[in-house]
Amino acid sequence: MKTLRTASLPLLAALFAAGCGHAPKAGETAAAFDAPLDITGSFAPRGQAGMDRLDQDETQRICSEYEGKPVPPELVTTIMEAANAGIRFPADGNYLGDWKNGEKIAKTGTGLQSNDDPNLPNGGNCYACHQMAAEEIAYGTIAPSLGLYGKLRGNSEPILKYTWTRLWNSHAYNACSHMPRFGEKKILDEQQLKDVMAYLFDPQSPVNLEAPGKD
Ligand code: HEC
Repeated sequence: MKTLRTASLPLLAALFAAGCGHAPKAGETAAAFDAPLDITGSFAPRGQAGMDRLDQDETQRICSEYEGKPVPPELVTTIMEAANAGIRFPADGNYLGDWKNGEKIAKTGTGLQSNDDPNLPNGGNCYACHQMAAEEIAYGTIAPSLGLYGKLRGNSEPILKYTWTRLWNSHAYNACSHMPRFGEKKILDEQQLKDVMAYLFDPQSPVNLEAPGKD
């Protein structure tokens, strides 16, 4: 075995040198691995999706840096305070719109993508992450179930404000939340947010009619 290995090493070296015209030196390879990951070359601007989509804001930058690790408490405070400062509550003090339109928004997964029509209203795509009405059997499980949301929590002012804040910018409650910032990033407008709120709170909304089954 030993003989075989010593005998084949020079042969391997010769093959390697012949095959790779510019084999990287050990130092160069290490530098390439250590460099920050540059993904810009993998994307091209298309439709409404420009290259600016790759620019992280401060919240995203911090949350990426600490992905899988605890975020230092002072940075958690910075993110949550900034998120809270940006919340805009409904100008007329009324949080609840039309639950039927809210249902459509919750079930619509289009908007803002390169092949979506920018003139159509964006969806909220809530079902991609949340279980909501019991009758809907297709939903994601990355997020907690919102089944019976209004029935279980009531519609007191603090609960309405909490939920509006969650929809506007979820980072106000969970620094590195994975939920889209629907208000802050203008994904949904004020009326759409009210409609989604009604879908969560209205006693007639399918969300509140029946307890959804468990997985
Ligand atoms: C990409 C996944 C994702 C989408 C899309 C999403 N959410 Fe969430 N949502 C989450 C996650 C994850 C949490 C809980 C953990 C956290 O804070 O990030 C959450 C939390 C919430 C909460 C707080 C739940 C509680 O128990 O207090 C509400 C309310 C909520 N989402 C409503 C919505 C609505 C309404 C929509 C659609 C307009 C939506 N979410 C879309 C991921 C998502």
